[in-house]
Order: sequence, then structure tokens, then C-alpha cells
Amino acid sequence: MGLDLSQAFTPSSGQAPEMGHVPSSSSTTASKENSSRVMQQQSKSLPNGLRDVVFDAEPNSTFQNFNSSIYLSKRGNEINNFCGGLQEGFVAYHADKHDEDTNPNGIVNLGTSENKLCFDLLCKRLTQKDMCYIDPQLLQYSDWKGHQFLREEVGRFLTYHCKAPAPLKPENVSIAQIILPTPFYGVITGDIFLYSSIKPLHLHLDSKGLSIKAMILMNPHNPLGDSYSGAEMTEFLEFAKRYKLHVIVDEVYMLSVFGDACSFQSVLSLQRLPDPQRTHVMWGISKDLAASGLRVSTLYTANMDIISALGQLSYFHALPGPTQHAVAQLLKDRDWINQVFLPTNRARLKTAHKYIADELTAMGIPFLNRSAGLFIWADFRKYLKSPTFEEEIKLWRQLLENKVLISNGKEFFCCEPGWFRIVFSDKTYRIQLGEITDALF
Ligand SMILES: Cc1ncc(COP(=O)(O)O)c(C=O)c1O
Repeated sequence: MGLDLSQAFTPSSGQAPEMGHVPSSSSTTASKENSSRVMQQQSKSLPNGLRDVVFDAEPNSTFQNFNSSIYLSKRGNEINNFCGGLQEGFVAYHADKHDEDTNPNGIVNLGTSENKLCFDLLCKRLTQKDMCYIDPQLLQYSDWKGHQFLREEVGRFLTYHCKAPAPLKPENVSIAQIILPTPFYGVITGDIFLYSSIKPLHLHLDSKGLSIKAMILMNPHNPLGDSYSGAEMTEFLEFAKRYKLHVIVDEVYMLSVFGDACSFQSVLSLQRLPDPQRTHVMWGISKDLAASGLRVSTLYTANMDIISALGQLSYFHALPGPTQHAVAQLLKDRDWINQVFLPTNRARLKTAHKYIADELTAMGIPFLNRSAGLFIWADFRKYLKSPTFEEEIKLWRQLLENKVLISNGKEFFCCEPGWFRIVFSDKTYRIQLGEITDALF
């Protein structure tokens, strides 16, 4: 612990070649001063949009060691055997979770994008009297899209936090539990495939013989932490309109913006959406309200056909009535959200981000210095023996074997080996990168 981290890794013998739009860093032996300069340059020149959607890398998700069960259909077997790369780390973590009292040598999870900084606030608020309430309507089947009271509350919440020019309507909200720029939150591909057998592709929009229907935009971005301006989002949406593409705008990190200078603009704040019938906005409480265990997500769209079709499917995803009640109470409590939760959460995210940014700087590891999201996108290329995804996964495994879980770039469809996402929204003692030092010896 606390050693000079730069000594812990074996620097690669050569320079990583330029690939995609991500410039390679300068010499691995660069001084700290140099490496922070490199960091700045990289921050500016990383891909930020739809320019680069083509890449060769397959993710780590595989059907390796396919075990066919006679009790399952072909599709059942595929689902049963599907193993996302991020899932492998997640399963390993759950089998050996770090806990300071009961399992101090367990795996430290800096891989899963969860906000663990505000459990104290949430526990206090979610155990207050108004949360525990049952009445007959909560015990009965409800509108599958969610109880009216919750949809009204979500409408009010999004109107306020997204700064919508006119009140967002409850009938356009659905509560429940598809082309992307790379790198992106790669778990989506597995999720979509397992559920619908649809395979998301990463390709040029003018690729022949393929019918492209939709794109997903994340703002703020996972894993880069970029926030796109209203003008940039409008450009993306105009582009989608030209090609009649549906756009799912994933704004699940919209309130996890913690920098003084960094602001976020929801597409719901735009005076005019280019194609409202094909623009659908997702938000949930997993990240912004640090409650991933409650499994609540929302969709806002002006397209009533989509709302109605989702209503048919929501039977399988409906939230329990008492949970809907508790979430409505939470969203309704403006004073708690605005005066307690959000300022505390932002301050804690900012401190945690600074801690990890300082550690990375001290290690001479370039990273994107952003102020949104729960993670940092960092360049570990100098620790790869050669610039390959095999070496990247080797480094990932080496860390995991040494009880540190982070997420490797290939899982986010990054075109260049050596990039990793580190989640910092946890207590300082857990995010101490000193652990990584020991791990790599
Ligand atoms: C960009 C993005 N969208 C959606 C999700 C899914 O969140 P949940 O299923 O907890 O609502 C995640 C989780 O990491 C994410 O990063």
C-alpha cells in the first residue's frame, strides 16, 4: 500500500500504435509534469460523437464452453451460456465481496457503476414513516406502465430537473424495471441480445444491406464522463431525423454532475425536439439517487404508440405497489432532494473524483478529467506488454486475482487496447489505488 505505483507495472516495450481517434500517449517514462500535459491533450482530442462508430473489436461476451442442456430450447441454451465480460467480474465479486469487518481480503469492486457514497442519506430517508404505506390499490394489479401517482410524480420531477419548457405529461411516462458511439456502456449489447435476440451493431450508417432503426445516446456519457451540450444533442437528433432513426436518450447520470464548470442539459429542456415521435428519454434512480437495488427506471416519450406497446410488455416488469409509493414519496420530497441529497452527493462525488484523479496523476496514468458520472476513463496502455486485447484482459485478470475489480475497455467496445473504467463513487479506503500497486507485484 502507498508505494510508488509507477514502479508496480511493467511498462510496455514500445509505443502503442495510433488506432481509431484515440491518440497514443507520449513516452511511458514521461515525467509527471509531462504526463499531466498529455492528459490535457488527450482530454481534448478523444472522440466525442458519431464520427467514429466503426471498430473491429469483439467484446469479451462469449458463448465459450457452451453447455447444452436437453431441458432448454436453443434460445434458452444461448441465454444460459451467455457470459458478458463484465458479468464475469461481477460474479467473482459477489463470491468474494470485500468487507472491512468480515472479509477484509475480499475483492474491491471499482468496476460496477454504483453510487455507494450516500447510503446513509438514503437509509435515513427511506426508513421514515411516510415510506411504509399500504392500501388496497397498492396490493392490486395496477396500470402496467406504473401507478398514476408515480407517473405524475416522475413527470413533475423531470419537468423540474430537466428544465422542460412545458410540464411533462404523466401519460407520456412509462415506469419499469437501441447505434452508439464507441466506447460505450457495453452491457447494453448483452441486455438487448438476451431479451430480444437483437444484435446491436457498430457500423457506418451507410452500410449496405442493413436496416438500421434506432440509436442510443448517453448523456452524460458512460464510460467517458462527457456531457454534451444542447447544441450537440440537437445536432445528433437532427442527424437521426434525417435517417428516420428512433433515438433513445439515456440520461441516467443527469444529476450526477459534480464539477463547478460542468453543466448538463437534458434534451427535454429543448424548446423543440427535431423528431419528437422518435425521441425517447430514459432516466432512473439507480445512479442519480444511489438506489440501484430498487430497480426503478422511467421512459418519457411523446409517442403514445410506444407508451402503449411498452404497456403490453410492462406486465413482466411492473414495480411492486409499495415500491412505487416509496419512490413517489422520494421524488416528491423536493426539500430533501434539493437541499440534502443532491448537494451532499455532489460534494462527495467531487471529493472522491479528486482523490482518484490525484492518485492517477501521481502514477502518471493519463485519464479523461471530466465532472460527470461515477467513473474515470483511464489509459493503462503503458502497462500492457504489447498493445493487444489479450494483454488488456491479462492485466484485468491480474488485478482481479489480486482482488481489485475494474472494467476493461474492450467491454465498452473501445477500439484501442489498454483503456479501463474505474468507478470512484465509494469510500476512500476502498478506492485507494495503493491496492492496485500491491496487486500488480
Ligand atoms: C448509461 C447507463 N444506462 C443504463 C444503465 C442501467 O441502469 P439500471 O438498470 O440500474 O437502471 C447503466 C448502468 O450502469 C448505465 O451506465
